[in-house]
Amino acid sequence: MGKLVFKGVFELDSTGMKMNTIELPPPAPGEPESLQFYRKLLDERKVETAKIVESLPDSRPLVLEIGCGHGHFLASVAAKDPNRYYVGIDVAQGRIQRAKRKSTLLKIPNLEFHLADARLFLSFLNPRQLSQIFVLFPDPFPKERQKKHRLMQDEFLLSCHRVLNTGGNLFFRSDVFAYFQEVLVWMKQHPHLFEPVSSEIWPDAETTVFEKRAENVHSLVFAKK
Ligand SMILES: C[S@@+](CC[C@H](N)C(=O)[O-])C[C@H]1O[C@@H](n2cnc3c(N)ncnc32)[C@H](O)[C@@H]1O
Repeated sequence: MGKLVFKGVFELDSTGMKMNTIELPPPAPGEPESLQFYRKLLDERKVETAKIVESLPDSRPLVLEIGCGHGHFLASVAAKDPNRYYVGIDVAQGRIQRAKRKSTLLKIPNLEFHLADARLFLSFLNPRQLSQIFVLFPDPFPKERQKKHRLMQDEFLLSCHRVLNTGGNLFFRSDVFAYFQEVLVWMKQHPHLFEPVSSEIWPDAETTVFEKRAENVHSLVFAKK
């Protein structure tokens, strides 16, 4: 099967692995086989994601990187900070496989990577379960008509707020100034939820794949109120 795209949001590649949405139309008689296939995979993915979240340790503050790619950033931070437990998720199977290989090779005990969709993953977390969330160079969807697919928007930011501990941090970095500004505007419109924090608290870490390609980098850190 080739790559299928439903309504421009859902992506199912030939391995059925890149599925970055959790919404599907209700089942309807005579719906295409591809949609039935996708529905089944999505149900399986929900069960898998719930299991991953259930198995997370609660003995140390938990840090989540969303869209961790090959895991360079998180591996370098986790290795230096055994007091926290680090989890990286991504919807791209190839990237997560590489990240997993890396953590196995480096034998970092407080680090794990999983194939999971961010919105689904967040929905299974308990309120205040996380101490930090990193979102580094999320897909920018630069064209005006694609902007609605950006991750850092209302529903997602409210979910981040729900799962962060009071005082917990949301770190965001992008090379797209318009995206950076959009998040800043959202935060200014929701001062009762988050407050800005000095960028000095960014951990010293390995540069991400997309950061290496970036011409400019814009960073924001917020604390949950
Ligand atoms: C532009 S890349 C950045 C990767 C990495 N953070 C870096 O800086 O090199 C965006 C990443 O987010 C992942 N991604 C996109 N939507 C996602 C979602 N809903 N849940 C988890 N990961 C997602 C993509 O698969 C991709 O690896």
